[in-house]
Parts: sequence; structure tokens; C-alpha cells
Amino acid sequence: MHSRQIHLPTEIVVEIISFAAADDARRQSTLHACCLVSRQWYSVAIPYLYEKPRVTAGTAFKSFTDTISPPIGARKNKIHLGSLVHRLDLSGLVYHSSNSLTARLLGRVKENLEVFLAPRVSFAINSLPALSKCTSLKHLDLSLVGEQIPFPNLKKALSNLSRLTTLRLPRTTTLTSHSDSAATTDWPPNLHRLQFSGHFRPLVISNFSWPRTLTSLTLKNCIDLSVSNLGSLMSNPQLATLKRFTISGSNRGLQPESINAIPVFLPELNSLSVPGDLVNDSFFDIVSHMHPPLPLEVLEFGFPSIDASVSFSTSSLTTAMEYGLANLRSVGFHEVFCTNKRILEDEEIDDLIYNRFAKANQPQSESLQNGIEKSDLSDPTIGVYYI
Ligand SMILES: *[C@@H]1O[C@H](CO)[C@@H](O)[C@H](O)[C@H]1NC(C)=O
Ligand SMILES: *[C@@H]1O[C@H](CO)[C@@H](O)[C@H](O)[C@H]1NC(C)=O
Ligand SMILES: *[C@@H]1O[C@H](CO)[C@@H](O)[C@H](O)[C@H]1NC(C)=O
Repeated sequence: MHSRQIHLPTEIVVEIISFAAADDARRQSTLHACCLVSRQWYSVAIPYLYEKPRVTAGTAFKSFTDTISPPIGARKNKIHLGSLVHRLDLSGLVYHSSNSLTARLLGRVKENLEVFLAPRVSFAINSLPALSKCTSLKHLDLSLVGEQIPFPNLKKALSNLSRLTTLRLPRTTTLTSHSDSAATTDWPPNLHRLQFSGHFRPLVISNFSWPRTLTSLTLKNCIDLSVSNLGSLMSNPQLATLKRFTISGSNRGLQPESINAIPVFLPELNSLSVPGDLVNDSFFDIVSHMHPPLPLEVLEFGFPSIDASVSFSTSSLTTAMEYGLANLRSVGFHEVFCTNKRILEDEEIDDLIYNRFAKANQPQSESLQNGIEKSDLSDPTIGVYYI
């Protein structure tokens, strides 16, 4: 058999295998097959195979953990396979892992792990020591975690993750006055994006110590975002410089009043996304009266909290765009709002933004003579979009 093997230059094998790796749907099975071709193919394909393993089903997870973290006494692979893992998504697992197995797995992949999505169960306080050593982490998603993890312990475990830029907190997060001890622990020094979930007391949230580097905050699955709780949260002066703010429709307790208060508390926002059904004409009335115009460029009417329809009129939006929303470049609608009527009205909004943009960017004479076509506009970030 050996004599019939065709030996290709390694550069060619690399080329072939990077093609196989780019096919997301069949990536794993193709790369696995490539590993079986020859030693040469194995050594080229193996880093790709382990870079972002797909471990959704229970059997795939078991063979993955047995390979990465062999049971005691089993034959060990010469290559440290764990160090090849850059992205580990365990969000599809339910009862396939255990707390100790998740911790052991994190211990094996700690050197180069950049993205980690924690499983629903089997991530708990005893996973934290292993997590704290994953110092290459950039994106950490704990949003599915159902086990209560005391906030001070979690914050302490994350404090050394100097590359971490994005963090989604567990939906079970509870901030009580006992969380005060967390105030003395530093946040990861480069944390920019935070998704906040769970439960908090108004007195605790009003002087909660937010990451100093925070630019983007998302509230999702909060238990009680009543007007007064959200007001307490936004009144914290540390948030006054926030650039992006997202309130998901999956929070409980939301009222139109809460949405109406946002521009007053957070005047520096560049981008705002709120449940579309909670915005009423009063919101636009309030922002119309704000001087100078808000820096807000992106306004998104996201997944609804209750009703699948918007309750504001297009004219109040377009009027506000003459005043407080004069900087608006982009308006997003969740697709549940896309009725036929909406499409005509969105055309109106789109035209308004386009005309303003064209006026601001084209020399007068040219725009008058040639009448720039909308399709000529090279910037796709302006106008109405759907999500
Ligand atoms: C963070 O790193 C410092 C210095 O390397 C170390 O002394 C400290 O114990 C670490 N903290 C945690 C929570 O791992
Ligand atoms: C937090 O705010 C409350 C009142 O709003 C105050 O009594 C408390 O001292 C503050 N705590 C800190 C750590 O500033
Ligand atoms: C918008 O909602 C708030 C709170 O429910 C209400 O007080 C206000 O009257 C509404 N505005 C309009 C124009 O419907």
C-alpha cells in the first residue's frame, strides 16, 4: 500500500485542508477524514480539527473529552490537543457534562482558549478556578448558566483575564448588598461589552461599580426592570458615557415610561436598541425637545416585549429627526413589525435619511444637476434595515 501513496508538498496539503476547514457545515467530518490519510495530512489537519470543535450531541462530547482529557491510565496523545482549542461552545449541552468534567476540560484548553460559551448545567462555582486560568479569553458567554454563582466570586475569577473584551453574565446573577465586597476587585482591564442579567436591588444597582472601560451594555433576562429599577441603574454616573445600550424584549417589568427616560439619563448614546412595541409618541416628543441634538446615530426597534406592532406614528419619528434625532443615520426594525403598511412608511424614513446624507456629502451643484441615485450610495450603514 505504501508504494501507492502519492506524496504532495506540504504547502499543497495546507491549501487543500484550509478549503475543507472553510466549509462550516461539513468541516468537522471532512477534517476528521483528512487526519486519517497519512501522517503528513494528520499533522496539517489536526490544528484545524481542534480549533473550534462542534460538540453538541452527547456522543461527540464524550469522545471529545476522552481525547482532550484522557481518563487515568488511557494512552495519551503526543500532541497537547487541548492547546489547539481556540473556541469552545458548550451551549448545546444539557446533561452530558458534570461540574468536575467542565472544570477539567477548561484546565486542558486554557492556553489558547479565546471564546467560551458555558453549558446550561454543569458550570458552577467550582468551575471558576479553571476559568480564571484561561488568560487568552476574549469572549465569555455565561448567559445560559443556571447555577447560582456568587457575584464576588465570579468577578474575582475574571479579574486576571486581561484580554477579555466581551462578557455575558449568568441569567441567575443576583446582586445584593453582600455583593459590595466585589467593589474592591477590579474588572478585567479591557472589558468593553457587558450583558447584564438576573436580579438586583435598586439601592445596590444605583452605585454598582461598572467596568471603567465599558462602552456597550445589554440588559437581557432581568427579573424586574420596573421603571424605578431601570431608573436606579441608569442614574449611576459611571454609565453616563455609555455608547451602546440594548434592552432586550426578554426582560420582565418593562414599561414605555422606562424607554422614555433613556435619552435623559444616557445622553451620550450612539446606538440604542429597545423592544419596538414599548416606544410610543411620547418618546419622540421628549427627544424632539433635546438641545443640542443627541449624538444618537442608530435606533433599533427590536424584538417586542408584548405586542407585535409598534405604537408610534412615523410622523413623530420623522419630526424628531428634524430636532433631537438630527444625527440619526440608521433605523432598524425587527422583522415581526414588517407589515405592508410598514414598508411604505419605512421608505419615507429611508428617503429622509438619504436626502440628509446626500445634502451633507455632495457638492450642491452636482447633487442638483445629476440627482444622485439612492443605489449609488456606497455606505450601507445608513437608512432603514431589518433584523
Ligand atoms: C492574578 O494574577 C496575580 C499575578 O499573576 C496572582 O497573584 C493572583 O493570584 C491572580 N488572581 C487570581 C484570582 O487568579
Ligand atoms: C450606595 O448608595 C447608598 C444610597 O443610595 C449609600 O447609602 C451607600 O453608602 C452607597 N454605597 C457606596 C459603596 O457608595
Ligand atoms: C406613552 O406611554 C406612557 C406610559 O404608558 C403614557 O403615559 C403616555 O401617555 C403614552 N403616550 C402616548 C402619546 O400615547
